[in-house]
Amino acid sequence: MMYRDRIRMKSLLDKVVDADEAALLIRDGMIVGVSGFTPAGEAKVVPLALAERAKRESLKITLMTGASLGSDVERMLTEANALSRRLPFQGEPTLRAAINRGEVMFIDQHLSETVELLRSRQMGPIDVAVIEVVGITEDGGLIPTTSIGNSATFAILAEQVIIELNLTQPPALEGLHDVYIPTRRPYRAPIPVMSADARVGLPYIPIDPARIKAIVVTQKADSCLSVLPPDDETRAIAGHLTDLFKYEVSKGRLTNTLLPLQAGIGTIANAVMHGLIDSPFHNLKMYSEVLQDSTFDLFDAGKLDFASGSSMTLTTARHARILNEIKHYQNRLVLRPQEISNHPEVIRRLGVIGINTALEVDVYGNVNSTHVQGTHMMNGIGGSGDFARNAYLSVFVTKSLAKNGAVSSIVPMVPHVDHSEHDVDLVVTECGLADLRGLAPRERAVLITENCVHPSYRAQMRDYLREAAKRGGQTPHVLEQAFAWHTRFRATGSMLHEAALGIS
Ligand code: COA
Repeated sequence: MMYRDRIRMKSLLDKVVDADEAALLIRDGMIVGVSGFTPAGEAKVVPLALAERAKRESLKITLMTGASLGSDVERMLTEANALSRRLPFQGEPTLRAAINRGEVMFIDQHLSETVELLRSRQMGPIDVAVIEVVGITEDGGLIPTTSIGNSATFAILAEQVIIELNLTQPPALEGLHDVYIPTRRPYRAPIPVMSADARVGLPYIPIDPARIKAIVVTQKADSCLSVLPPDDETRAIAGHLTDLFKYEVSKGRLTNTLLPLQAGIGTIANAVMHGLIDSPFHNLKMYSEVLQDSTFDLFDAGKLDFASGSSMTLTTARHARILNEIKHYQNRLVLRPQEISNHPEVIRRLGVIGINTALEVDVYGNVNSTHVQGTHMMNGIGGSGDFARNAYLSVFVTKSLAKNGAVSSIVPMVPHVDHSEHDVDLVVTECGLADLRGLAPRERAVLITENCVHPSYRAQMRDYLREAAKRGGQTPHVLEQAFAWHTRFRATGSMLHEAALGIS
């Protein structure tokens, strides 16, 4: 299909320019909203043209997106020194390093909240939106590609809109999207998503075509995610969680169709979803944010009936096949704006089972998802908070060890809290599962230590809890020692106590 056929509003054909010319609309100091979500559907060639220009002239922007971008966009913009502020999520090593050097101000936000802040003018305004589309309708509506993320609200609010028309994205993506924008406060109506498969909006982003200032035609494909395959530990985590679901069914609290599932980005959550292929559960539904390979494997295994998300983030191995066969999945898929896929009201209404990955968890169940050693940003909170706070069952998974055993993922006290103990129902490592529901902190600590802490750290944790108990309290701690595991790791390269390391 020629690009002219994809621009169905013919009066827009004279807006077609090259990426360099379109990027000239973006000037120093602007707030730019770019499509893209954990890498899928990002605008590619205009941000890269901007990065080239920033090498020659002083140019710094605030970059807002759905979530992290692919296609080297974040790296190139960082290397060109073109970013002053970044939100609401990222995951690129060069940018991450610049954030941790304090050179780029990173605002780590719940992914459902960014556009609420823009719409109510608590942030913004957006000067330019750059949105990747698969086509433009007869009325100038924008048909997104493999993600929606924040694109709809960026395009609706921005003063000027640049379109990247991507010819590698299949026209069959049209019809997959469901664009619903909440009504204005104080008269906001309930979000009408009553089931994971509900369609409540439009299959395109409705905007005033007069604000489309440039259209750039590109053939640059989505870059793919690399996800490690399941290993013994992730399989064990999936096994513990499957056992818990079976127990819930035996108690009559769930049926074999469970409740809509959400799985966070990354290797472990993907592996947990894979684990459901060989489980007794069937006719499953997902109400999630990112749909990864495991979603399509569950479809193919006949286990999953429907998946709702905000992006399709696939590995190279799956990307081409799934996009070529997207018609085959189309009736079972919907992509929504991230404020709807992650909306607290809908998550609570549907009773979503939220499965997210922790960087580290403390012995009372507080979770750090973002800050390595309490100070250095990894990726961001993403949607984990949207789901954890509002889920029917809030699950955090992690391997019990990191860095070849030098780090215990369960620590006495997390040095940064993203999810407090009040939002965490289950903690699962390959060692076992701690069901924290209805338990007080002292009870939680025993379960987490005995079921989730790796055996090489378990005695050390028991010692800590014994000392803490002597000091008393609802949540006992030895404050002088609470971060000793972290400071020991910094000093010796391991969290293991000197005795365990053979140092006297
Ligand atoms: N201390 C220090 N580093 C740790 C660590 C700890 N306790 N636990 C893990 N890490 C490191 C790993 O060593 C690895 O480092 P490397 O990239 O240098 O190899 C890195 O963190 C990623 O860990 P990995 O075990 O590969 O897990 P993952 O890819 O599943 O990512 C998170 C885990 C927590 C970083 C990731 O899930 C995340 O960013 N979560 C927050 C956002 C979120 O939950 N979104 C959900 C809605 S989509």
